Amino acid sequence: LVLVIDFGGQYNQLIARRVREHNIYCEVISYKTPIEQIKAKNPKGIIFTGGPRSVYLDDSPRMTKEIFELGIPIFGICYGAQFMVYGLGGTIGKANENAAAEFGRTECEFDTECAVFDGLKKNSVVWMSHNDYIEVLPDGFKAVGHSDKCPYAAIENVEKGFYATQFHPEVNHTEQGFDMLGNFLYKVCHCKGDWTMRNYAEEAIKQIREKVGDGKVLLALSGGVDSSVACALLSKAVGNQLTCVFVDHGFMRKNEGDEVEQAFKDWDVNFIRVNAADRFIGKLEGVSDPETKRKTIGEEFIRVFEEEAKKIGKVDFLVQGTIYPDVIESGTGDAAVIKSHHNVGGLPDYVDFKEIIEPLRLLFKDEVRKLGTELGLSDVLVWRQPFPGPGLAIRIIGEITREKLATLQDADYIFREEIANAGLDRSINQYFAVLTNMRSVGVMGDDRTYDYTLALRGVTTSDFMTADFARIPYDVLEKASVRIVNEVKNINRICYDITSKPPATIEWE
Ligand code: XMP
Repeated sequence: LVLVIDFGGQYNQLIARRVREHNIYCEVISYKTPIEQIKAKNPKGIIFTGGPRSVYLDDSPRMTKEIFELGIPIFGICYGAQFMVYGLGGTIGKANENAAAEFGRTECEFDTECAVFDGLKKNSVVWMSHNDYIEVLPDGFKAVGHSDKCPYAAIENVEKGFYATQFHPEVNHTEQGFDMLGNFLYKVCHCKGDWTMRNYAEEAIKQIREKVGDGKVLLALSGGVDSSVACALLSKAVGNQLTCVFVDHGFMRKNEGDEVEQAFKDWDVNFIRVNAADRFIGKLEGVSDPETKRKTIGEEFIRVFEEEAKKIGKVDFLVQGTIYPDVIESGTGDAAVIKSHHNVGGLPDYVDFKEIIEPLRLLFKDEVRKLGTELGLSDVLVWRQPFPGPGLAIRIIGEITREKLATLQDADYIFREEIANAGLDRSINQYFAVLTNMRSVGVMGDDRTYDYTLALRGVTTSDFMTADFARIPYDVLEKASVRIVNEVKNINRICYDITSKPPATIEWE
């Protein structure tokens, strides 16, 4: 176990993710955690994260200096480095007095005799983001890396196993950052690197069992990766104490509702599929405004779910498939509302339960996928691309009709098939068809047509906050286009969306 001690920096979970990418289990804990608890966990190594404060401020995050007396190696990053220096008797230069602030890509030179830089290039680019700087080192420390402005970009105290960098080794912009952390973990802390999703699953299952006891658990399944993996995990942990409600609003992709049901057929859970397509289509009659569509679907979803939950009676726990990016996104709360997101996770107010279980809360998407595979879910579910809660309803511009829905399902299916045939289905992060509300003139055979325009969209992105349109080869687009106009009724023209986000969004509504 490695402990990441959180001082409030913005990349803290990223540090945890890097440690885990080295197959080393780690936990993120607050700097306020009592030292006894830290000792009891008996970590092999400790990493101090960055943080937004200056060590000299009264309210800056500080922890007891006993942390330095445990005989456990420590790696300090940015604020964590400054806290280490300050805590051990060195001095930190204050932001307002110095010209040493550095932001962004910075060239550094390293001492490759140092364990952390062992086997790495002597010169490489790192990501800096600091105002304050290390001015005087505590006893026993020496510099093992510097930039033009920063003489103490990296420091070490070999005897104590303390290392620190002013830059952020956890971000991708730091060229050799992953290996630096790896060196610390393997060469200094002597970690084995045997933590895998299998171990995570075992541990999570054990914890869930302890927590749930013989209680009843309810989960809203959307068929997306997160809720599916959560379902699989809970099913392994508590079997049919789990009831899983899958509200099929009818706006799933072609065959998708059946696929989801099929996927959990043989699992030990109470699986309830509610076929509510008629209700949802009914509610949306005459509705064309995007936000009204979203809100109507969101409200109706809750109503349907609530009705099902009532039938089940009182439950003790509600599962949410929250993953770490959701945790960050909901953390700020003051961003402008671009779209009202509908998420099957957001139900707690409407169901009578004691506690929430969020078994994926600390995992990143790629880890969730690995876990799903480990638990035995099929690739179809594990590699499902993100799909918005309101489904195809927000990919049919304007009023929704059953005919339009069927048209879009068929066209989208063909597009997905051609993307998969071209082997692009895992490299393009999201791809789908949109049925625009526009019709135009075409000619088929010898006849004039007046039919809908379909838009195809494909994006590459790592966080879905920003995205670039995918450079899908023309011949793949051509195959999809020819097939769609030939095989699907009511479409005579196809466009490819070449806007990035921003200024566009990924979905059209
Ligand atoms: P936008 O269109 O805002 O989409 O660029 C960003 C990502 O979020 C997905 N999306 C949703 N996901 N509930 C969800 O769970 C929603 O209501 C919703 N709306 C959009 C979208 O597919 C993309 O991946």
